[in-house]
Amino acid sequence: MKILVTGGLGFIGSHTVVELQNESFEVVIIDNLSNAEEKVLEGIIAITGKKPIFEKLDLREKNSVKEFFTKHADVAGVIHFAASKAVGESVENPLLYYENNINALVYLLQELQQKTDASFIFSSSCTVYGQAEKMPITEDASVQPAISPYGNTKQIGEEIIQDVAKVSNIKAILLRYFNPIGAHPSAEIGELPIGVPQNLVPFITQTGMGLRKELSVFGSDYPTSDGTCVRDYIYVVDLAKAHVIALKRLIENKNEAKVEVFNVGTGTGSTVLEVIQSFEKVSGQKLPYKLVDRREGDVIEAYADTQKANKILGWKAESTLDQAIESAWKWEKKIRS
Ligand code: WQD
Repeated sequence: MKILVTGGLGFIGSHTVVELQNESFEVVIIDNLSNAEEKVLEGIIAITGKKPIFEKLDLREKNSVKEFFTKHADVAGVIHFAASKAVGESVENPLLYYENNINALVYLLQELQQKTDASFIFSSSCTVYGQAEKMPITEDASVQPAISPYGNTKQIGEEIIQDVAKVSNIKAILLRYFNPIGAHPSAEIGELPIGVPQNLVPFITQTGMGLRKELSVFGSDYPTSDGTCVRDYIYVVDLAKAHVIALKRLIENKNEAKVEVFNVGTGTGSTVLEVIQSFEKVSGQKLPYKLVDRREGDVIEAYADTQKANKILGWKAESTLDQAIESAWKWEKKIRS
């Protein structure tokens, strides 16, 4: 069965391609290489022994999307990762975000709605909850007004899918990721941030390698156990597996609604200082860091209630924070060697 993975050479996309191939799905990747490298294919092949089909294509080009679905008329399901994801950049250049994240989604759905049956998995984010009132966050927590164009594209994306599913054969699962981290245990694929990493874990591993002088810990006066923000760091391989399970659920028509929503997290919150401690433990080295002012737009805490995913999807995060950080460190050391 052929599955399209858009953004399949990116961080979460590439790990999901590996899990799909491990489960004998035939994978076709669309990627425009705007934030990924073609050599990621080699890592995927090294792990799975199989080469996915790769179509270098920009989803903002409506005709190219049309041509793709003519060529690959047998695509049975789509996992849609391709999107821009830097919060700060989205504030600077909102139209880039609306074009990349919304136009592309619309063009994909336009093609899919012509099919008699189509399964669609959407990369959403816990960012839709903003600062939720209650922890852990359940899927029925209210969606808060987005604080960045990036966050807004995820909310609008969810709404578009809901509307289209009502009037078409498209069934969808919206996966709301918490904070994905780590790399494949083989260190053949992992995260490849361009420039200075905005996210915590790649910044830590680069600092550990001496590429950055020190980590700035954004805010130490939050009302949390040690004053730093709390997040739910989910191992990327566990996250990738959630996609395969969700996709199978739709393909086998086991879904209970046209659109279902699941949190994908571990259920455990960790502070920034706890992540640093984990890094120090697995790497056996001290991490230089300083406490600085809060970063604008950060919520105090966000961690998932995972009961819905546990019970209904039958999926549970298996790896610990230490294991995830260890994999990120192994990957960082490999790409710098
Ligand atoms: C984690 C924690 C920072 C860097 C973002 C997006 C979200 C998303 C995941 C999609 C925070 C602290 C960070 C640093 C620090 N989804 N930090 N020093 O902000 O939770 O979520 O990525 O793509 O939509 O908003 O993740 O990794 O940036 O930060 O102290 O140099 O680490 O303040 O508490 P965040 P993050």
